[in-house]
Amino acid sequence: MTRIAIIHYSATGNVFELAKALADGARDAGADVRLCRVPELAPAEAIAQNPRWSAHLQRMETAEPVQVATIADLEWADGIALGSPTRFGGPAAQLKLFLDQAGGLWSKGVLAKKVVTAFTASSTSHGGLESTILATLNLAYHWGALIMPLGYGDPVVAKVTGNPYGASWVSRKGSVPDHDAVSAGRAQGLRLAKIASAIASVQ
Ligand SMILES: Cc1cc2nc3c(=O)[nH]c(=O)nc-3n(C[C@H](O)[C@H](O)[C@H](O)COP(=O)(O)O)c2cc1C
Repeated sequence: MTRIAIIHYSATGNVFELAKALADGARDAGADVRLCRVPELAPAEAIAQNPRWSAHLQRMETAEPVQVATIADLEWADGIALGSPTRFGGPAAQLKLFLDQAGGLWSKGVLAKKVVTAFTASSTSHGGLESTILATLNLAYHWGALIMPLGYGDPVVAKVTGNPYGASWVSRKGSVPDHDAVSAGRAQGLRLAKIASAIASVQ
């Protein structure tokens, strides 16, 4: 069974909804999926100032529990999807700190066998969706991993969302990712599982 890790950070829930869509898509392809969140690093006082932030954290801890990612999840996976909100045009520090702990796996060459893809949400359509995905995936060059774009293969990307870099949501449009954004996420998860399966078979 192909192993897919969807590892994400989400403060207010948008990226989490995309993460779930990718997980569903990977499961559609028959993959064994781990949907994980990276640890929150922000001080409690900062989180408490934003009701959506504290509500989402509570949701992931209690109402809809999401496993906290460990470096072992990176080693386990054939395919890895990395999700983060756009933060000043790049990924959040929470995701970056988690990934900065992958040096041990990198030095053993383990990460060179992986297929990696990325997804994001930003407030505005020109607020840095593509730059966040590109910046998130810089690490794949160092890992020697294969970068998988979403591409235009799925009709919802070609005709509606129009972002071949990865699933994305412009959160100013609504309180949660809409049907098209979720469909793009699902297509990305499905594609990741299929490609990771093919790559794993030739390792
Ligand atoms: C510190 C900070 C920086 C942000 N930077 C950007 C940005 O550069 N461009 C943008 O469009 N939105 C930016 N946003 C908005 C978030 O990307 C957006 O609200 C996103 O949907 C949040 O995703 P989440 O609900 O998964 O946390 C920023 C938000 C914060 C808190």
